[in-house]
Amino acid sequence: MHPEIVVFGSAIVDFISYVDRLPRSGETLHGSKFATGFGGKGANQCVAAAKLGAKTAMVAKLGSDPWGQKYLENLKNQGVEISGVKVVEDTTGIAQIIVSETGENQIVIVAGANNHLEEDDVDKNPGLFKSCKVLITQLETPLKGTIHALKTFQGTSILNAAPALENYSKELLVYSKIFCVNEHEATIMSGIEVKSPRDAKSAIKKFLTLGANIVVITLGELGAVYGQKDSQEMVHIPVFRKVEKVVDTTGAGDAFIGSLAYFLVKSPESSLTNLIGAACEVASHSVQKPGTQSSFPNAKDLNLDEISRKDYPYH
Ligand code: RIB
Ligand code: NA
Repeated sequence: MHPEIVVFGSAIVDFISYVDRLPRSGETLHGSKFATGFGGKGANQCVAAAKLGAKTAMVAKLGSDPWGQKYLENLKNQGVEISGVKVVEDTTGIAQIIVSETGENQIVIVAGANNHLEEDDVDKNPGLFKSCKVLITQLETPLKGTIHALKTFQGTSILNAAPALENYSKELLVYSKIFCVNEHEATIMSGIEVKSPRDAKSAIKKFLTLGANIVVITLGELGAVYGQKDSQEMVHIPVFRKVEKVVDTTGAGDAFIGSLAYFLVKSPESSLTNLIGAACEVASHSVQKPGTQSSFPNAKDLNLDEISRKDYPYH
């Protein structure tokens, strides 16, 4: 099996508590339900693409605790190639997540083993990086390795700059082909408050001035906006499908990134507008189910052919 998409990044176990509303500082609340799930932005993005039918590989670090073994099993079960996943003497990354009745969340991560993902892990997996058409990275693992992966990779690279950094090397913008953030991350990283598609366009302009190639800002229920180097045009793609009931938005951004990679590989002739529209559709499915990886749609749950061929409205 030759993988098409390689994810260099995080794998984290999620401990999720469901509550009526998010707690205030210093407050204790009763939750209604607890669940554990396989998460971490990197692995989520990888599994999102795998569930749609892409051949994916993961380069990541897990801990030498029972969670590490369980996580490895999970990746195998999802059909992800795991030759680049290693166990190190540390705890597996964990995330404490609180999800409110309206589907909003708060997340704290303790990266643990993820902190051991280094430049060396790029160099030790030359085959994976060479054979793949798309590389996906995030910011839950050390920066050095991420920048090295982006610099080395020859195909289409995506950086999901999450969690956001206030001060960061402009190499993150320059060396990623597609730089993708949500409205909160865009606000932190551009210094421009992003609440609307119009604000997103201003932030994109700033990122492009700083050296970015293609910038995508996701805006939740408002869809996504993108712009690219050497082009004045910025495009807003609203979400095509109205979501009846939002259950859990955790991981929706990862569903977007993973499916964007999937569509880049499967429909390379499509316009960026249609690729992003299609990825928004997949993400909007994920918010209707609890959890992250467990909420991502399988190919059989969707009409992928139609989704990838549709002409999405934009303005
Ligand atoms: O993007 C959602 C993910 O962020 C969760 O799965 C959690 O692990 C955190 O990394
Ligand atoms: Na979800």
